[in-house]
Amino acid sequence: MTLLDDVKQRLDIVEVVSRTVPLQPAGRNLKARCPFHTERTPSFYVFPETQTWRCFGACATGGDAIGFVMRQEAVPFGEALRRLAREAGVSLPSPRASLQASPLLQVNKEAAQFYHRYLIQAPEAEPVRAYLSKRGITTTSTEAFLLGLSPSQPSLLSEHLVGIGFSAEQGVEAGLLLRSEDGRIRDRFRGRLMFPIADAGGQVVGFSGRVLDGSEPKYTNTPRTPLFDKGSLLYGLHRAVDGIRTSGTVVVVEGYTDVIVPHQAGFTNVVASMGTSLTQQQVGLLEGLAKSCVLALDPDVAGQEATFRSLEGSWRVFQRPQMGYLQRSTVVYTRQNRVALKIAALPEGKDPDEVVLQDPDAWKRIIAEARSLPDFLLEVLPRRYDLAMAEGRRQLAERLGPVIVALEPQDQDRYLTRLEQLVGVDRHTLDQLLGVSRQAMLRQAGVQTRAASRPGAAPFRRALADPLEQYTLSLLFQEPALRDQAGALTPEHFVRAEHREIFTAWQRCATLETVRQSVDPVLAQHVDRLLALPSPVAGPTDRTAEFAECVHRLEERRLRLLKRHEGLDEEGAPVPASLDVNRRLHQLFTEQRGKNRGD
Ligand code: UTP
Ligand code: MN
Repeated sequence: MTLLDDVKQRLDIVEVVSRTVPLQPAGRNLKARCPFHTERTPSFYVFPETQTWRCFGACATGGDAIGFVMRQEAVPFGEALRRLAREAGVSLPSPRASLQASPLLQVNKEAAQFYHRYLIQAPEAEPVRAYLSKRGITTTSTEAFLLGLSPSQPSLLSEHLVGIGFSAEQGVEAGLLLRSEDGRIRDRFRGRLMFPIADAGGQVVGFSGRVLDGSEPKYTNTPRTPLFDKGSLLYGLHRAVDGIRTSGTVVVVEGYTDVIVPHQAGFTNVVASMGTSLTQQQVGLLEGLAKSCVLALDPDVAGQEATFRSLEGSWRVFQRPQMGYLQRSTVVYTRQNRVALKIAALPEGKDPDEVVLQDPDAWKRIIAEARSLPDFLLEVLPRRYDLAMAEGRRQLAERLGPVIVALEPQDQDRYLTRLEQLVGVDRHTLDQLLGVSRQAMLRQAGVQTRAASRPGAAPFRRALADPLEQYTLSLLFQEPALRDQAGALTPEHFVRAEHREIFTAWQRCATLETVRQSVDPVLAQHVDRLLALPSPVAGPTDRTAEFAECVHRLEERRLRLLKRHEGLDEEGAPVPASLDVNRRLHQLFTEQRGKNRGD
């Protein structure tokens, strides 16, 4: 039994809550006026059976005993657990005890410092220092972003790493060293300007090296390692967190220098997608942090077909958490966490770093003038089609259709009117054109549901011995590819504080290794246990189906919890959203029945 279990077993939710909140009986449960918001009629319930609590009022949230203490005392998980453990007479290890960094993180950190020292100190680095200064990058920024230079000699880094006690193997695993066929070890990055790439917690997990002689390819990156996966990182995020939080806006650029120069000029909310369109994981990092996300687009490419496709891809990623049965969610949480996508077009032929260097006010203006994707498309797309021709009008409507259909009804109307004017067709024809894309969207959604619920792929019942939350997380951890499917999951789906905590950390971290590093040691231990849970299914395909099933069940449970209020207290304030919840439950069940029939 783990320490966490030990503590949890000795806790009684009723005892923990009633120490500070006067509870009154309500059938098998207890209720009170919610301690977390002001209210006249009690909507705060404690359920001894499940050892959980829930506020059905303004908070619309719940949890277990640890979650209650976290919320009430405004302390992090580890602190709440330690308080409860002390009271229960269980001793826990101190948080620092198991915080030694993994060797892979250490080797990356050491390499970053090695490259940095070489850039700052080596006489042969002088031309590179001059290059940076020519690009407007100050020594302060060089320090802050830990820029470096990889020596042009074949193996100085490898000699250094081995010299201070790392094995060549560790260097190879970190993607820093290469082993050639004859077994010789050499450095991967040679004679390049080095940009260390850190995760959200600021730990270096990989590098990108820029050539200095104009050769191709311009950048070489760390290959995929247990720590490094370009698609789940945003360059500069750890330095941008505060700037994003204060401004509510994150600006996404493509290049490394396009992050550094704005930061240097005080625009600290800038991160880079590192040259590709945004992934679900990257957007996940921004949820709960940014209210809006501005993509800074190079106008050279803004008019190109590839850009539209990539934009539509990013847009879909932003929509995704809202799709399926989470659409029109009544849970405030989901809405609050949505990040609005906006597009800013830069002046012709200029990268963000050049804009900022030339005129910081212009940057400010360009970002402030960012438009929503529908607005942006309505402006640039009509130029691409021949609207004098029926075919051109049809193409334009088809292109804009999916974006408009996905808007809230009141916004849809506004855009339809504008589209009507642009295309010069009546509303009926337009509706027909858009109806096509509406159907296409539904079809797409239908295909996804069917794929996720392959007949015979739901052995969840057999695995009921494992609680749902544990099982969901263990699947997620055992199959990294599932990250793409996890968009519909929110921390609110987890009732147990340790799972909510681990899930939140996982959303923020690129890899399990960094999750382990960033959470309380007790939780790190729990992560290991989840990882070790026997899985009734093997292989990515089965796990994907299993996971879809788990998400479905967690959502079903969440909705049931929302609805449970109705039976608890006749006099309770009506849940305004209950009708909607009913509708969605109904939807879930019809979906479920459809699935069973398909079995
Ligand atoms: P750019 O070619 O625009 O480079 O690629 P840049 O960042 O403006 O670099 P400078 O200004 O010439 O120094 C944009 C981003 O795309 C990724 C990098 O993340 C780069 O910053 N990229 C580009 C690669 O990963 N590999 C490449 O070969 C090129
Ligand atoms: Mn550039």
